[in-house]
Amino acid sequence: MSNQKIVVVGSCNTDMVIKADRLPIPGETIIGGSFFMNPGGKGANQAVAAARLGGRVSLISKTGNDVFGKQSVVLFNSENVNTDFIFSDSKLPSGVALITVDANGENSIVVASGANANLKPADVDAAYKALEYSDIVLMQLEIPIETVEYVAKKAFEKGKKVILNPAPAQALSNSLLKHLDIIIPNKNEAEMLSGIKVVDIESAKEAATVIANKGVDKVVITLGSKGALVLDEGEFSFVPSIKVEAIDTTAAGDTFCGAFSVGLAEGKSIIESVEFAVKASAITVTRMGAQASLPYRSELFQVE
Ligand code: RIB
Repeated sequence: MSNQKIVVVGSCNTDMVIKADRLPIPGETIIGGSFFMNPGGKGANQAVAAARLGGRVSLISKTGNDVFGKQSVVLFNSENVNTDFIFSDSKLPSGVALITVDANGENSIVVASGANANLKPADVDAAYKALEYSDIVLMQLEIPIETVEYVAKKAFEKGKKVILNPAPAQALSNSLLKHLDIIIPNKNEAEMLSGIKVVDIESAKEAATVIANKGVDKVVITLGSKGALVLDEGEFSFVPSIKVEAIDTTAAGDTFCGAFSVGLAEGKSIIESVEFAVKASAITVTRMGAQASLPYRSELFQVE
């Protein structure tokens, strides 16, 4: 089995999570339940998910020179994520996310980006070794868009497989889309990119077609508890989800992207990689937290 190298370029946060019966409406204070802190950030979650599932992973990221940043590096080392390219910002604090999770496992998240907002193309140049020796480059949108565009162009031109999880949702330039091999939006992000409201498989197909026509070869739209729609060079496939009781959906998308990248790194096809990712994210939603909930490879055998 081949095992190509994955580099994740993305954010690193510390998540402050409160479980509540429901999410508050604007202006409202509600009394929640338990509080806990655990490591998060879409970039770090995807890197740790990939490493736990057997990937060879480096993370290019930026933290503050503070206790959260230092803790993150210690944790990544214990997860076998290469930390040689985690930079420390002398002025900005580490990223923090405030998360509320309701009784159905749905969440609302506010991120204070801190040092993540200062991960610049110059940092990527300083981490050129990680990029140079990687086969797969995985990114999200919790770092500056100029950095995402810079990495995508550079990596694409060098023949790396470039994957973007466009979260949190924002409009993207056609030039960025042309430098991607695969894009993995959820339904809201797909709507933002295509202008089509994604409510079912048919509308997901329409949205995927619009996105593909902007220059990305392969589009995978994650549809939460329904499954995932794949458009691969003009052909649609649908992979249904695995029915589980969701406790907390935080990092389900991150698990999906990390697992999908591991699948590709191991030489699996796009569909096999999506099936692998669907299994992994089904485990994540049954547990609380972001990195606290990410599955290990051995656990995947228990999921049908
Ligand atoms: O995708 C979940 C993540 O989004 C959380 O871990 C939080 O830190 C935010 O980045």
